[in-house]
Amino acid sequence: MRPQASEAPPVRGVALALWHVLLTIGGLWLLQLPPVPSVVSAVEIMICNYEKFNLFDSMYRPRTEQFCVFSDVYLGPDVKGTDFLASSLDYKRVAFVNSKFTQVPPSLFKNFDDIRELYVRRCSLESLKVTRQLEKVYAGSNRIATVQLDGNASNSLRELYLDGNRMRALANLTNLPNLEVLVLENNPLLGDIDLAQFERMEQLWKLDLERIGMTRVQNGLQRPLGALKRLDLSNNALTYVHVRMFRTFPRLEHLWLHGNRLYFLEADQLPVMMPSVRSIVIDDNYWGCGHLAVLGQQLRDRGIVIRHGECRTRAVHRVCCSDVTDVVDFRYIIEMGVRREGRLEQDLRELRTVASVLRQDLERMGHRLAELTVNLTLRPSAQVLVLDPLPPDGVSKESTDVGSSATASDGSIEESYEEDDSSSRSSSSSRSSN
Ligand SMILES: *[C@@H]1O[C@H](CO)[C@@H](O)[C@H](O)[C@H]1NC(C)=O
Ligand SMILES: *[C@@H]1O[C@H](CO)[C@@H](O)[C@H](O)[C@H]1NC(C)=O
Ligand SMILES: *[C@@H]1O[C@H](CO)[C@@H](O)[C@H](O)[C@H]1NC(C)=O
Repeated sequence: MRPQASEAPPVRGVALALWHVLLTIGGLWLLQLPPVPSVVSAVEIMICNYEKFNLFDSMYRPRTEQFCVFSDVYLGPDVKGTDFLASSLDYKRVAFVNSKFTQVPPSLFKNFDDIRELYVRRCSLESLKVTRQLEKVYAGSNRIATVQLDGNASNSLRELYLDGNRMRALANLTNLPNLEVLVLENNPLLGDIDLAQFERMEQLWKLDLERIGMTRVQNGLQRPLGALKRLDLSNNALTYVHVRMFRTFPRLEHLWLHGNRLYFLEADQLPVMMPSVRSIVIDDNYWGCGHLAVLGQQLRDRGIVIRHGECRTRAVHRVCCSDVTDVVDFRYIIEMGVRREGRLEQDLRELRTVASVLRQDLERMGHRLAELTVNLTLRPSAQVLVLDPLPPDGVSKESTDVGSSATASDGSIEESYEEDDSSSRSSSSSRSSN
């Protein structure tokens, strides 16, 4: 309406007549339409403040980092009309505090196209989108039920915190090949999930499945998850857990099982199934004191930490238990009877898995053997070169370079494992000693 008015023709009479017509039409139009707020909200601009921001890292240690922080961002269901800016758009870490929106506005990712970390805890999010560059996403305490990933398995995500949300399924979260830390704690609607869903996460070292409503452990993993060191299954509704469920985690060091309904655990196979384990926290379950006395001793004899807190009632090894062992043993006998039938089939399946793992190992060894053969056939000529009083510089140098670079890369792999070891050791003691 306004542009039309300003384009009024110069001839006065005609102009006035036309003006009246326009006003009338405009008036009618205005009556039918609500006032015009969209024009105003379309230009809303939010600017973040680059500052020191406190958060917790994957081991619950406080961490302070420079983030660009948006505060008090309240958006309705239509989040598209807002633009997010900063003094520099190169900022790689962005946080929202005191904010409320159902999804992270897409324009954020357009402007901050080099974003690596996103902190959106307690923002009332209902869905979460993870773009390709994001490496760490802190999205706890929201209402997230859906997660969308940009690209398939081409993402960079290393740490994902989804604690305290409303996730029902993990279907969209299986293709995260770089993921190292996954925290799903307190998503009570998840229920019984199969650990096979994490099979592509070969770097995963921490998996938190506390309080997700799990009633039994399902593990259809076909290959071991070699990096996993910390698995939290606490505060679920597990009644029975067989240690062989954890055979696919050869480096597992810490297992949390407290706050379940366990009354039986076989410790005999522990050294085979969980060779690296250092703590299995078993407090706050339905232990009978008789069984707990044996189990606790077996675990403690192996130097395995079993406690999380103190027990103030009847306790063995300072873990709470009940003397109503008859009931407990009876339940155990029923449970074992039911299991025995399925056992043979399960054993067969496991043997097949072991066989395929062995086959892979064999293949690898075959390759190494071939390499060794090549090395052996090459060595005499290399010695000839060394023995030669005037070796051609290029050739001898090349051969030593190859050797040193190979050992260096081997060495660094070992180092990084050791680093992980020490970091998890310090934190495990802090977590299990209180
Ligand atoms: C999974 O991703 C698809 C496509 O990105 C999306 O439409 C769907 O809602 C997502 N589902 C869940 C449960 O996150
Ligand atoms: C994503 O990739 C996996 C293999 O990496 C494949 O099995 C799956 O079908 C792909 N999904 C889509 C939606 O392309
Ligand atoms: C073969 O030789 C190279 C270079 O000397 C070395 O890096 C590699 O480890 C050797 N391979 C085997 C299987 O020993």
